[in-house]
Amino acid sequence: MHFEYQNPTRIVFGTGTLSKLGEVVREYGRKALVVTGSGSVKQNGTFQRAVGSLSAAGVQIAECAGVEPNPRISTVIRGADTARSEGCDVVVALGGGSVMDAAKVMAAAVFYEGDPWNMMAHGQPDRRLPDRALPVITVPTLAATGSEMNSGAVITDEKSTLKSVVSAKCLYPKAAVVDPELTVSVPIDQTAYGICDLITHVTESYFNGIDGTPLQDRFAEGVILTAMEWGPKAIADGNDLQAREQVQWASLVALNGWVQTGTASAFPVHMIEHSISAHHDIAHGAGLSAINPSWMRFAARNRPARFAQFANRIFSIPLNGTEDTAVAMEGINRFEVFLASIGCPTSLGEMKIGEGLLEQYAQDTLQVVHDAEGRLPGRPPMSAANIVEVLRSSL
Ligand code: NZQ
Ligand code: ZN
Repeated sequence: MHFEYQNPTRIVFGTGTLSKLGEVVREYGRKALVVTGSGSVKQNGTFQRAVGSLSAAGVQIAECAGVEPNPRISTVIRGADTARSEGCDVVVALGGGSVMDAAKVMAAAVFYEGDPWNMMAHGQPDRRLPDRALPVITVPTLAATGSEMNSGAVITDEKSTLKSVVSAKCLYPKAAVVDPELTVSVPIDQTAYGICDLITHVTESYFNGIDGTPLQDRFAEGVILTAMEWGPKAIADGNDLQAREQVQWASLVALNGWVQTGTASAFPVHMIEHSISAHHDIAHGAGLSAINPSWMRFAARNRPARFAQFANRIFSIPLNGTEDTAVAMEGINRFEVFLASIGCPTSLGEMKIGEGLLEQYAQDTLQVVHDAEGRLPGRPPMSAANIVEVLRSSL
């Protein structure tokens, strides 16, 4: 293993921590652009409490409401314009991954010369990453993406129907105020999609990383087992704060870089899913749930022992030495049954997605990311035909 790791985001974690938002934000600015989604934070009172805490700390606000799930670049540009015209010196993201991602890119777009879509990889020869952003404070209201403590953001360009990723040092939030109580209002379906998303963040590195990462394997397995134990409790009773807390902590840990450190992994299932949600506007975690088991069956042919280890350590399926493939497949089947048991779709058909655009999704995915041979990075790297094969078996 060779790596450098630094995550500069401070975490303020625990029930009731929303009341500290004002004092945290005040360390970074006096006028906050408060970024929100389609209204949930106003309906459940989170927005009003956040603004109360900000104003008690002497922080003024300007607002950018209406960030859509699967946030659009046009919304990012609107938010950056507001931040500039209102003279904001800090950005507060109050919402799920979509709001947090949009807020991060708004914070960078304030200083970015040219079209901010050029930050996102989409095959352009002159891509330019952002090197400066307003300080961002994240307040996640949904446990899923881990965006609150990472340097990534995922944005959709509605003109080209491409969804792509930017990751840059300046996008790390300064602080994440993580109050699990804010997630009690998340509906059952979104709760389940979040659980699938967080598990997929660690399965990606578990299955696509290098060999010889035993400690990282245990971290990943710990995240998966915790999510599988506490996730169903959060679904059974949305007001179970202990369950909400464990799921939220797991989602943060799953993608703040720690589990992936040293694994040199890729995110093929994510990249494929992004192309589908760009076209169909489905929830990211639901798309992952439909694709991941099929991808696992495809990839297990290449690395059966690894998938057998997953089956053994996650589902206690005994290893029997020579039968890795059978054990691997049993583990994948059990994983798929778990996803269905929490209400996640396990086929694209359940989301009314048919075979019409399979080649298009593959092409879009490879336009966003490919290796020197034009394949999607992962273990194994995937050609367009491989992507279509996996998607066909997800139908
Ligand atoms: O828009 P509002 O009204 O807030 O409603 C949202 C939205 O309808 C609702 N919601 C959020 N918190 C709630 C709530 N409803 C009731 N009570 C609450 N407390 O949930 C719906 C989904 O929200 P969204 O933010 O879209 O979900 P999620 O957190 O799953 O984020 C998904 C986005 O993040 C990207 C995805 O691609 C997708 O665009 N990702 C970002 C990553 C990152 N930055 O690291 C990594 C991920 O792999 C992912 O790709
Ligand atoms: Zn994800």
